[in-house]
Amino acid sequence: MSISVVILAAGQGTRMKSTTPKVLHEISGKSMLFHAIDAAKKLSDDITVVLYHQAKRIQTEIEKHYADIHFHIQDVQNYPGTGGALRGVEVKHTKALILNGDMPLVTMDALNALTQGDADINMSVITLANPAGYGRVVILDGKVQEIVEEKDCIPAQKEIQTVNAGVYCVKKEILDRYIPVINNYNAQKEYYLTDIIKMAVEESKTVHPVMVEEEEFKGVNSKLDLAHAEEILQRRIKTKWMKNGVTMRLPETIYIDSRASFEGECMLENGVSIQGASTIIASHIKTHSVIEDSHIENSDVGPMGRVRPNSKLIDTHIGNFVEVKKSTLTGVKAGHLSYIGDATVDEGSNIGAGVITCNYDGKNKFQTTIGKNVFVGSDSQLVAPLNIPDDVMIAAGTTVTKDAHSGDLVLSRTSQKSIKNFFYKFFGKA
Ligand code: UD1
Ligand code: CA
Repeated sequence: MSISVVILAAGQGTRMKSTTPKVLHEISGKSMLFHAIDAAKKLSDDITVVLYHQAKRIQTEIEKHYADIHFHIQDVQNYPGTGGALRGVEVKHTKALILNGDMPLVTMDALNALTQGDADINMSVITLANPAGYGRVVILDGKVQEIVEEKDCIPAQKEIQTVNAGVYCVKKEILDRYIPVINNYNAQKEYYLTDIIKMAVEESKTVHPVMVEEEEFKGVNSKLDLAHAEEILQRRIKTKWMKNGVTMRLPETIYIDSRASFEGECMLENGVSIQGASTIIASHIKTHSVIEDSHIENSDVGPMGRVRPNSKLIDTHIGNFVEVKKSTLTGVKAGHLSYIGDATVDEGSNIGAGVITCNYDGKNKFQTTIGKNVFVGSDSQLVAPLNIPDDVMIAAGTTVTKDAHSGDLVLSRTSQKSIKNFFYKFFGKA
């Protein structure tokens, strides 16, 4: 891995109209910047992120997830622009790949293609029917001459449809030589990284254009772009898992987080949402169920089941309107309308309709443990902390507040009484 990566993320991203920094907006459960870092990590052991706007917040977020990223704070006051961003950045290797923090769709393969060969600069190029907003690439006799930013284009240059996609692989010696001497004599009074192309060409360095896919190199600048990027990434994620054998009914209605994974034969029905780093193994997730950061194995959920973070369902059936949170259920049936939170339920136990683990007293959360072969009757409340051992029967409608013993029937009900002929006295007889 003899290449360095520099990710530019100092821009303000005003068009996002958000207090959250642009690069921290998420696509398929992961921030745009993390998508870029993850692609870079596959290529390099020397990654520098250039920051300025909300630098602290972004750096803190990165450090929560990655141990070995370098940071460089751009002197935006004195050196605004993509060229300014690279001033003072130290790269370890002889080549550096420079990319933008707002390109979540770029793949490792596409980046890898840019690092090939021995040109002084490899630059990414796309041809667009509508090149508006991009730097135009001036090519003469098949050779790149310069990049002209749209705001600096003369009318004839505006017609050029070959544009700079914004990713470059540059030899360190080229950066060391040209970055310090870029000027800001342009329409935006910014230091353009793109100026190194012209400087290199003038000194007969080799500049090699690499044609890339528009979809991968699309920058996200607005909420509209964000939604569009989400659609593209979702399509990719679902295509990948379907190729791996996951059955999806109406895949366009399904959402799958980029960190989720599947094994064995899985079936996802329409409207299912798989969030976080969930692992789904040989399971059937039915219509409109939501799974968050959980492990589901050899189980079925829904329709309209909800499995919240840190749950583990093994050999288990969860039916409609059942909510499970931070609980481990092994060999359990919970068919209807229940809340199971902060609980462990063991093999052969049945959770009747409407059962609730009362895990919260308004201040603290408490644990419920249910052993094997426990029958929890419908509409029971299990007030935690609670320990129900194996082989217990809890009668319907019971409020359980005390631990039970194996073999018990647990029952708390006011005894039933009947008042003869009350109905007829009250409503009369037909
Ligand atoms: C840039 C290119 C343009 C190219 C386009 C492709 C320049 C001068 N222009 O334009 O030729 O077609 O990308 O998307 O480079 N950034 C900093 N510090 C700054 C300014 C920007 O770190 O002072 C970062 C931004 O956070 C962003 C990236 O650099 O991640 C690109 O900046 P942006 O302003 O979006 O560049 P464009 O004007 O789109
Ligand atoms: Ca700009």
